[in-house]
Amino acid sequence: MQSGANNPLWRNADMNEPTMLESRNVAPDITSLVSYIPIPGYGVLPVNAFVIHAEQLVLVDTGLASLRSEFLQELRSVVDPKDLRWIWITHADMDHLGNLEAVLSEATNARIVTTYIGMAKMGLHGLPLDRVFLLNQGQSLNVGDRQLMAVKPPTFDAPETAGLLDKKSNTLISADCFGAIIDRPAETAADIEQNTLRDGSVLWATIDAPWLSTIDAEKFDRSLAAIEQLNAEVVLSSHLPAAEGMTKTFADRHG
Ligand SMILES: [Fe+2]
Ligand SMILES: [Fe+2]
Repeated sequence: MQSGANNPLWRNADMNEPTMLESRNVAPDITSLVSYIPIPGYGVLPVNAFVIHAEQLVLVDTGLASLRSEFLQELRSVVDPKDLRWIWITHADMDHLGNLEAVLSEATNARIVTTYIGMAKMGLHGLPLDRVFLLNQGQSLNVGDRQLMAVKPPTFDAPETAGLLDKKSNTLISADCFGAIIDRPAETAADIEQNTLRDGSVLWATIDAPWLSTIDAEKFDRSLAAIEQLNAEVVLSSHLPAAEGMTKTFADRHG
């Protein structure tokens, strides 16, 4: 993974506005477009989008509207938007859809990947639907040199949520699942102090998936086990720095 240590914004604990950091390589063929939003009194929440450098280029999510020009600038530094073939929307929350229209206007060859409910919500937001490609959980998208399988993560805050498993790079993109509110930006999840990461994960899950406390623990454990069995080497959450070799840690923590 490349180092962002020279950028003073990294590890800045006093962030008071949404901030875009430099993009980083987070897995084989995957670049993360990294931003953070301050959560007053608690710390910061990462908000990540990803570019998968597959034969057919894929952008996963479109960042925060409040950082539109910074997001587009980072995106252009990673790929020529015209070369994007797919824009995979993990779900239709505004921290994932924020710059969809702006990206679409530059990514003229891209289609939007989402589920039926995702498309319906996009319609409610007044977003264009003519380039939508419907894909449901369990189905795969052929992007030339690999298949991206739509995965329903164990926790989510919207029914249309579809993360993805890239078997070629052995990476799981988990949408909101496995996020954490942390004390300051970090380059990788392994760089976060263990107690901070555990407490921040619990806090995020409590906020983002409040239904967790009401469900059958055994059934939830089975959904965690199913994710563990995907054997992803890298987990990329929308709301956590890249996590390498930590799938079991996450499953134990959430179980
Ligand atoms: Fe969400
Ligand atoms: Fe989110």
